[in-house]
Amino acid sequence: MEINEKGKKMSFNPLEEKGIPIEKQHRSWHEITKKPFNKNEVDCYSRTRQILMNGIEVEAWNFKHNFSRNCADSEINKLIAQTRRVEDMQQTTVNWLTPADQSVLETTLGYEQVAVDLTAWMAQNEPDDYVRETFNFGLLEDFDHLYRYSQWAYFEHGISPNDIVQGQTDIMLSRPTQNHHNDNRIRLRKPYDKFSADPQTKVNIYTLVSGEQQTHNYYAEHGMEYGNQCIRETYAEIKDVEEEHVTMYESLIDPTESWFEKLLLHEFTEVCNYYNCMEDETDERLKKIWEMFMEYEIGHLHIAVDLFQKHEKRDAEEVIGNKVVLPCRFMSQKEYVTNILENEIQKRLGTNMDYTEIDKLPKDWPSYQLQEDVNKDGSPTEMVIQIMAAAKGRDLTVADSKLKKKELSLLEKGLEEKVQAPDTVSTEMLSKMLKEKEIEHEC
Ligand SMILES: [Fe+2]
Ligand SMILES: [Fe+2]
Ligand SMILES: [Fe+2]
Ligand SMILES: [Fe+2]
Repeated sequence: MEINEKGKKMSFNPLEEKGIPIEKQHRSWHEITKKPFNKNEVDCYSRTRQILMNGIEVEAWNFKHNFSRNCADSEINKLIAQTRRVEDMQQTTVNWLTPADQSVLETTLGYEQVAVDLTAWMAQNEPDDYVRETFNFGLLEDFDHLYRYSQWAYFEHGISPNDIVQGQTDIMLSRPTQNHHNDNRIRLRKPYDKFSADPQTKVNIYTLVSGEQQTHNYYAEHGMEYGNQCIRETYAEIKDVEEEHVTMYESLIDPTESWFEKLLLHEFTEVCNYYNCMEDETDERLKKIWEMFMEYEIGHLHIAVDLFQKHEKRDAEEVIGNKVVLPCRFMSQKEYVTNILENEIQKRLGTNMDYTEIDKLPKDWPSYQLQEDVNKDGSPTEMVIQIMAAAKGRDLTVADSKLKKKELSLLEKGLEEKVQAPDTVSTEMLSKMLKEKEIEHEC
């Protein structure tokens, strides 16, 4: 194993590591349920790692249930049942690091920070141009969600959204959420080719699908915990966009991968993510958890490799290569996101699994009908800005003054003229709002 000057391993081949065997992966309830982090002290990127790894474990567990439901071989099902139980126990450990006093909206800001900074990292490390374009497209949508939810976090709980993102991620409007609603048929993308795709591409997509799916599930399970009808509708609206995101990202996966190949990729994705978390973690207690779970995942990986090689008569290296890839290096991506924001906010989904721009959309673009249907009584993500304007004069943003100055021109470029919700914040309204004093939120 090569070590660089910072003591970090430069290449790591999990196939050559022993890991912890499955028989040694049972823990007591006390060991499974660890002490939560302190929401006021945790580093924002420790929180994003915790949110992401919960999503990875939920997907690992869910996938293995689907595998078993489609598998008639009881010997294979016994192996899957064993590791599936451990995936579920890992999920408990990871998700229950969340402290009881972290509100649903605070956790939500964490979820959208994951989406923004994770997708931006992946886009820059993605070898496939089409996949990268898809990441950039989704990135701008989650960036807008962060802005809309931030208004509610301030309005409902009186918190500064910057206490969650800790100055690492900007909070600004993007392609408006009311424009994220598409005919789900045109969300579908072209799949990669399983024989030629780079392992980095596969792991990036498997990771992002897990993250987006868990974001969807979190909103589905928690959006109704607020009594405020407009907050409930905001969760309903953004949850539905996350459904589109799962649809979009999962359609990039080659559907001809066999169950064994998918199992192999799931375990490899888990190894890579825990490896990446372990390398980057600054909290010693969390680092130990990531390290132990990486060892567990290497144990799972060996089982998946054996099954794949036995049933497919192919070498696992053909699918996953011979070293880990880094899917989740969390770091501030402000510069990258600003660049995509300025250049791609006007992008829209084409009807041939491609991308187009607002002014090139045909009159019969399928998403117009959907947007008319869902936004006809108003778009709650527009309404929240109207509510902020009525109460405080203007919207809440967290960004440097250079980016803030572009807010109006970004809305001009990103907002669709043709089908708009009745409560849309128009460019005229925003321009009036921006003359108001900024909201003091650094309390
Ligand atoms: Fe796992
Ligand atoms: Fe989102
Ligand atoms: Fe998303
Ligand atoms: Fe696993």
